Amino acid sequence: MSLSEDSERLEGDLKGKKVCESRTAMTELVLPNDANTHGNVLGGKVMHLMDLAAAIAAFRHCRNPVVTVSVDSVRFLHPVKVGAVMMFEAVITRAFGTSMEIQVEVRSEDLITGEQMRTCSAYLTFVAIDEQGKPTSVPPILPETQEEKQRFEGALLRREHRLRLSSGEE
Ligand SMILES: CC(C)(COP(=O)(O)OP(=O)(O)OC[C@H]1O[C@@H](n2cnc3c(N)ncnc32)[C@H](O)[C@@H]1OP(=O)(O)O)[C@@H](O)C(=O)NCCC(=O)NCCS
Repeated sequence: MSLSEDSERLEGDLKGKKVCESRTAMTELVLPNDANTHGNVLGGKVMHLMDLAAAIAAFRHCRNPVVTVSVDSVRFLHPVKVGAVMMFEAVITRAFGTSMEIQVEVRSEDLITGEQMRTCSAYLTFVAIDEQGKPTSVPPILPETQEEKQRFEGALLRREHRLRLSSGEE
């Protein structure tokens, strides 16, 4: 089966939805309770919020409960201090049969200077589940902008890579 035949099969017969319909933005102030002993936000706190933002985007896309099935690598590019603000933006890149790949971008802002920095980004995959906890079909996406089309194209290769990794082939 070719890649395009495979993706047509995976995307099924459900009516497509636009990326903007599920785009999710969250803003969070870093409080002392979220920090390590150096006064920087804990990586686990950032990952928790990434998971939440991505889950909301996935839920909005399929209008069905979802679970996280995998998170690709996350690299923290700089420390974020207590008192800074973190912004999370989650967008769906592509939907397959029952799974959806979501990209989350995180930026931080120094509230005094207004300086913003890119903190990290990651791809997370969610699966829609039915009442029995079994995977259920999700609608495909209709990429509109050039950026959305690029993310859509890249998603197929990323999916193949992560499925190979998780099956122990790589
Ligand atoms: C996610 C879950 C419902 C999948 O159930 P399953 O019976 O293993 O389902 P399948 O093997 O048919 O896979 C379902 C989808 O997940 C995808 N998937 C499986 N492993 C994956 C991985 N490592 N990365 C990305 N997608 C993956 C499959 O490709 C399939 O998607 P598709 O229909 O779009 O092709 C089940 O494993 C589960 O409930 N896991 C726990 C989820 C959870 O609780 N997460 C919170 C943290 S514990």
